Amino acid sequence: MEVTGKIATVRKRLAQARREGKRIGLVPTMGALHAGHMSLINTAVEACDYVVVSIFVNPTQFGPNEDLDKYPGDLEADSRLCAEAGVELIFAPGAGEMYPSRNMTWVNVEELTAGLCGRFRAVHFRGVTTVCNKLFNIVRPDVAFFGQKDAQQAIVIKRMVADTNLPLEIEICPTVREDDGLAMSSRNKFLSKEQRQDALLLFKALTAGRQMILEGCRDSRQVIAAMNKILEPSAECAVEYISIVDPETLAQLEIITERALIALAAMVGTTRLIDNIIVDLNKL
Ligand code: PAJ
Repeated sequence: MEVTGKIATVRKRLAQARREGKRIGLVPTMGALHAGHMSLINTAVEACDYVVVSIFVNPTQFGPNEDLDKYPGDLEADSRLCAEAGVELIFAPGAGEMYPSRNMTWVNVEELTAGLCGRFRAVHFRGVTTVCNKLFNIVRPDVAFFGQKDAQQAIVIKRMVADTNLPLEIEICPTVREDDGLAMSSRNKFLSKEQRQDALLLFKALTAGRQMILEGCRDSRQVIAAMNKILEPSAECAVEYISIVDPETLAQLEIITERALIALAAMVGTTRLIDNIIVDLNKL
């Protein structure tokens, strides 16, 4: 396995892999790899002949008051994990390689980025779609892998690929959780013991919401109120939003009919966590 920070090297290696007729997979990440990332990487290694993992803490997707400066990273540990998993190439560029001059060209998906996390992170999705567009153009993968954990991101990326006619597939992999249900996240390491305990309430609220729907409640407002009741007593959790939306269009659902995405975001202490669950009434 090779680690490079240079776009030219990536292009060279990938041209060769393409000449050899290999199916190329890309897993974009910001590093500090955990079991959630590794499930994407393992899926990619199984489905492809040549897997590239990008590790880049993309500054354009962080707002001015967000955690860019303290975002965790450990390239050595990440490299070990990728090599063991069968990754061929890690692309870990510096910011200067990805943004050599002040960026003037943005890829922006409208509407789908307005709600949920978009309400609280003004520049976030524009940064994500712009950097993914760059990564897709640099690597030119046949397929790129994303996690359901970031449900809105996955939908936005799919739309960007469709709207700009990029020749690749997007595969969405299930959310990987700790044994007690907390969704794996690079940011979990910032949680104190008390915060870690209260962070579990996010998953508890989601499963309680799902249970209410499965037991017959179809009114989103009632479900959201019940979920809020679980989170309100917590000294550590401050809910940003709890929303019930269509899993494809992200449109708000007042009445739940078939499939619903229950999504939430909360500050747990100073750490922002997100999680979601899909309820499918067709699959009872
Ligand atoms: P990052 O947060 O590092 O996540 C990289 C990928 O891993 C994303 O597709 C994310 O959804 C997935 N992932 C994270 N935690 C997961 C979990 N517990 N289970 C399953 N998948 C999980 O998301 C980003 O980076 C960036 O926005 C990026 C797409 C790399 C663009 O900069």
